Amino acid sequence: MTERLALFPGSFDPFTLGHLDIARRASTLFDRIEVAVAVNRSKQPLLPADRRCDLVRECTRDLPNVSVVSFEGLLADFARVRGAVAVVRGLRQVGDFEYEMRMAQANRRLHDGYETVFLLPSEEHAAVHASIVREIHAWGGDISSFVPSPVLAALAAGRRP
Ligand code: PNS
Repeated sequence: MTERLALFPGSFDPFTLGHLDIARRASTLFDRIEVAVAVNRSKQPLLPADRRCDLVRECTRDLPNVSVVSFEGLLADFARVRGAVAVVRGLRQVGDFEYEMRMAQANRRLHDGYETVFLLPSEEHAAVHASIVREIHAWGGDISSFVPSPVLAALAAGRRP
């Protein structure tokens, strides 16, 4: 039987406990998950793409069917090239749905070859947004309840003089 690959795409800037929760849940549903780290050269990220990939790899080390790739360009094109049967996205709150649905429908027009699967994180992670984590970090706040320990360590190291 052919392997059923799902992509879990995102900016992961940084990878949060909510992302980890979704990767873990997705890993039980598909043969293989590729966490697909988006490279967007028009945006200045907190962490460069290769660092984000390394950190996702470290955080998902205990999930044997999860690997990490980076991609640039359209997700629909990347999903076609990888032969993915699904794209997984986390839905934290109802507010996420409108944007996610717009993106999923546009992507389906570009490549109608996979299903978009929305997964809910556990309640404790429902309010975790990478943008909020970036903001708290920028002001020197405590992000330890939002991100896995490798990400915490990397961001703390980046802050040291
Ligand atoms: O973690 P994010 O920032 O919510 O992830 C968004 C991401 C990277 C999945 C989305 O912006 C994306 O797929 N970017 C690649 C370019 C693309 O295909 N855009 C969507 C066309 S509708």
